[in-house]
Amino acid sequence: MKPPVELLDENLSSMARISLFHLFQIGLKYGVFQSLSTPTPYEDFIKSAPLPNRALLRRLIETYIRLGLVRREGDILKASTFSYQLKLTPKNAEGLTVDWIPVHEEIYRMVDYAFISSEHPKILMDFDNDSDFWDMRLSLEINRLYREVISSVAGLEDGMRVLDLGCGSVSPVELGGVAGPNGRYVGVDFSPGLLSIARTRVKELGMDWVELREMDVRRILPKKRYDVVVMSFILEYIESPEQLVAKALGMLDEGGKLVILEPFQEVSPYMPAWGFFESLTKEFVEFPSRGDLLAHLEGLGVDAKVKPLGNSVLVLQTP
Ligand SMILES: C[S@@+](CC[C@H](N)C(=O)[O-])C[C@H]1O[C@@H](n2cnc3c(N)ncnc32)[C@H](O)[C@@H]1O
Repeated sequence: MKPPVELLDENLSSMARISLFHLFQIGLKYGVFQSLSTPTPYEDFIKSAPLPNRALLRRLIETYIRLGLVRREGDILKASTFSYQLKLTPKNAEGLTVDWIPVHEEIYRMVDYAFISSEHPKILMDFDNDSDFWDMRLSLEINRLYREVISSVAGLEDGMRVLDLGCGSVSPVELGGVAGPNGRYVGVDFSPGLLSIARTRVKELGMDWVELREMDVRRILPKKRYDVVVMSFILEYIESPEQLVAKALGMLDEGGKLVILEPFQEVSPYMPAWGFFESLTKEFVEFPSRGDLLAHLEGLGVDAKVKPLGNSVLVLQTP
């Protein structure tokens, strides 16, 4: 069996590659590539497209430009020659967890409704109103795998003090479970819906060392100190991730670890394709680049030992 970080990277990279395939299909289905087979002024193209949600159409075109499927010269758009290979070897396939595939298919389908309106009831990507859908996503095998990675790289064990920023509905039980019963786990999240699911589970299991707080992580004040701070799949919703990372480091005790798990841009050249689908969640900004994040942290004068693992994990340890 491959090491967990490698399995994680392979699954995340497959999510990006399969997203590109679906993103390409959207363009074919709505006639984007057919229209742009001749050079067309950007605004004329947007005005003539029979899709009510123009903001989403612009985002689609910007994503195509980033990925090289469409070329922009001045105000003129033109479809590019593009080819990519979706290669799956038996060796790759061995490590793929399968349950994220139907969930991603649901998300691909939501784009059709989003082209009608970003408020369409069939879009289930709001953290609060659609907490059941998010809870299903956060309960997938791949999510369990990355929580094992977090636990192992953080050296999590009973008795530790853990802060989880953007904890969602499942980590309070899975990561909180490792820190207790003698430690303390504080989960912070701004979604009352996800927190309510987490609270019910924590209560049923009698995990009284788990505390859940409803708060925007950008407003958190570094009052208490922790042995471990976790940030998993949260930086993609934050405008200036380096600011939050610097603040999180300030909440660690000496020698404490900040574990960041994120589908960084470095996972695959096709991350913008996956990002297009995730942008159905209104808070989504983009998948951050690990290289840029580290450069920004250096610019802020952050003093921490940096340990990247694979393409999707970053561990920062305070002196
Ligand atoms: C993709 S989920 C990840 C949840 C959890 N960390 C995990 O890995 O299972 C992102 C979570 O971050 C929360 N979130 C996003 N932006 C936030 C913010 N600014 N403040 C607090 N929570 C936030 C969402 O409500 C959601 O629970």
